[in-house]
Amino acid sequence: MVGSSRMNHDIVLQTRDLKMSFGGLKIFEHLNFSMRRGECHAVIGPNGAGKSTFVNLVTGLLKPTGGQLLLDGRDVTAATPQQRVRRGLVCTFQINTLFPTLNPLESVVLALCQREGQARPSWRSVSRMTKQIDEASALLDRFGLLDVALAPTHTLSYGEQRLLEVVLAFAMRPRVLLLDEPAAGLSTAQGVALFDQLTSLAGETTILFIEHDMHLVFRYADRVSVFAGGDVIAQGTPDEVRANERVRKAYLGS
Ligand SMILES: Nc1ncnc2c1ncn2[C@@H]1O[C@H](COP(=O)(O)OP(=O)(O)O)[C@@H](O)[C@H]1O
Ligand SMILES: [Mg+2]
Repeated sequence: MVGSSRMNHDIVLQTRDLKMSFGGLKIFEHLNFSMRRGECHAVIGPNGAGKSTFVNLVTGLLKPTGGQLLLDGRDVTAATPQQRVRRGLVCTFQINTLFPTLNPLESVVLALCQREGQARPSWRSVSRMTKQIDEASALLDRFGLLDVALAPTHTLSYGEQRLLEVVLAFAMRPRVLLLDEPAAGLSTAQGVALFDQLTSLAGETTILFIEHDMHLVFRYADRVSVFAGGDVIAQGTPDEVRANERVRKAYLGS
């Protein structure tokens, strides 16, 4: 976490007494969560703790039954998912419909056009978009995907496709990038490679990720929030969270 004390108090995403229930099933009764600008923040917790529900509440796919969600201090509780994307909240699964027949370069150029609010270009005109092609190539290079930039997406390995999702999300220049278990299905080495790239984005963007692999969490998160029993039972640096008695009992099992 880079920063001065001023930055430390710069909260980019916050919930105030967020409530969520599915019928009679109460998931959150008064969830108070906050995240600082530029940090890489992990959400952990046992299965069923509501981590994915939380991400869906943040993106707007689910509506809370009460409470507020603030983005940069602005209340976005009533905003649609599209409005939230425009305000900089981007989640990888919102763009996980990779175009299987396009190559990564074409896909990223399209994402850049979308960000710039341009109409979707015809395939022939993509080759003339030199500015976007340069930016797309640089992004693909940064994530180690330049070698496969011109291969049809469906021929990429699973790990490469997951990386491409992150590139497409990052191409939107998100204020907050949300990732629900980005390393799921990846090998340990691929997971590490993905997180190496992700954390190189911290500072440029704020990252919220859900991850059950504690090695990745403790290696890459600046701060960690622990969800359990419908609440944030601890929030702090990996060391603070690891040392927290309540967390050890509720979650780490030691
Ligand atoms: N759409 C839904 N309808 C009803 N119950 C749901 C729905 N989504 C999640 N749940 C329930 O909410 C709880 C939290 O789920 P989830 O957010 O997926 O947890 P986590 O991601 O932490 O494992 C679980 O008990 C789950 O069964
Ligand atoms: Mg989940």
